[in-house]
Amino acid sequence: MRVSLRRGASTLLWVLLVVLLIRALQWLHSCASRSPWGVSSAYVLVQDRHGRVHGYNRSSPLVFVGGVPRSGTTLMRAMLDAHPDIRCGEETRIIPRLLGLRQSWTGDWAERRRLEEAGVTQQLLDSAVTAFLLEVIARHGEPAPLLCNKDPFTLKSAVYLSQLFPNSKFILMLRDGRASVHSMISRHVTISGFNLSSYRDCLSKWNRAVQSMFQQCSQVGSARCLELHYEDLVLHPRASLQRVLRFLDIRWHEGVLHHEEAIGQPGGVSLSRIERSTDQVIKPVNLEALTRWVGHIPDDVLADMKNIAPMLSRLGYDPNANPPNYGQPDAVVINNTDRVLKGDFKIPSSLKGQPQVHSNGTVPKQ
Ligand SMILES: *[C@@H]1O[C@H](CO)[C@@H](O)[C@H](O)[C@H]1NC(C)=O
Ligand SMILES: *[C@@H]1O[C@H](CO)[C@@H](O)[C@H](O)[C@H]1NC(C)=O
Ligand SMILES: *[C@@H]1O[C@H](CO)[C@@H](O)[C@H](O)[C@H]1NC(C)=O
Ligand SMILES: *[C@@H]1O[C@H](CO)[C@@H](O)[C@H](O)[C@H]1NC(C)=O
Repeated sequence: MRVSLRRGASTLLWVLLVVLLIRALQWLHSCASRSPWGVSSAYVLVQDRHGRVHGYNRSSPLVFVGGVPRSGTTLMRAMLDAHPDIRCGEETRIIPRLLGLRQSWTGDWAERRRLEEAGVTQQLLDSAVTAFLLEVIARHGEPAPLLCNKDPFTLKSAVYLSQLFPNSKFILMLRDGRASVHSMISRHVTISGFNLSSYRDCLSKWNRAVQSMFQQCSQVGSARCLELHYEDLVLHPRASLQRVLRFLDIRWHEGVLHHEEAIGQPGGVSLSRIERSTDQVIKPVNLEALTRWVGHIPDDVLADMKNIAPMLSRLGYDPNANPPNYGQPDAVVINNTDRVLKGDFKIPSSLKGQPQVHSNGTVPKQ
């Protein structure tokens, strides 16, 4: 009786092991057939203003800057653009849309089956998406040793992008959601899915978006995805940029601390005349936008803050402090802020006399 029991148990164990082994093999196989490694042979050539030709492929180093809109992504990319070895450029707008489309092609099991039957495999789709992204990123601005893309919502696809581009890195800009939401509402920045008439709705949508990007960034891992708080960038620009450039393996360059001086310069910062943050990043790093949200959020929303936006405390922002203590600014930032408040900064000649955004954030009709 005891012997047969033991034998029964060991048989069961064996069966279990075999099943697990088969499962693991199936899983490995599905990973291998989905893996984009080595599939895309896309190669993009771009000529710079000296006539030198630069070539890019999916193994080229790339950096994706993103975050919830109004979280300092434009400031971050302008500072990177001020570095001679990096080019980000304006938002492309089509990259996050293409990533959304790709998701809709393969999200549904039945549709995926139809595509596979038609020879439109996952590999083929990944390879086509890689070629499209590389073409747009490489050609919409000047070439540089390190190309960068800033479209806020791309960070929602960080894991997928990290597979398409094996040497890519990511910078996730994080900011107190109350400030981001106040900025989108007061500047009438339409974002699909956000109801700009409601702080409660925007804060809960902010929460959902930042949660998804935060999760993607953790999954990609800290070697390839850097989380940076907007408040730290603004209060301590030098230490923050040192951290960013170390992360990107790029030599230090003092110019990143004076991005406003590189606007419109060859190899410097190229700005869209109608992008929503343009009127802000023409100024040096300053404290104007840090606590502007205080006093604008309805009381019932303030009282319910930690339930509406639980990500606030996860990211280190006290949901009950209005405002929380973000820290002490570096002296240079206080100096910049004084100059900005006095109106003592130059509008770059490349943007002068051209349609800009009004200070209330609206765009003049052309
Ligand atoms: C891709 O580009 C890298 C440099 O960015 C280069 O070292 C590599 O040889 C290229 N690979 C192919 C297949 O062209
Ligand atoms: C947006 O929020 C306002 C205020 O809560 C509400 O009246 C309106 O119906 C909402 N709009 C949509 C499209 O949900
Ligand atoms: C503030 O900045 C201006 C312009 O860069 C500079 O001339 C001045 O010396 C600075 N003042 C202080 C106190 O750092
Ligand atoms: C924004 O400012 C411009 C110029 O001052 C003005 O013409 C426009 O009506 C303003 N728009 C809003 C929505 O306040």
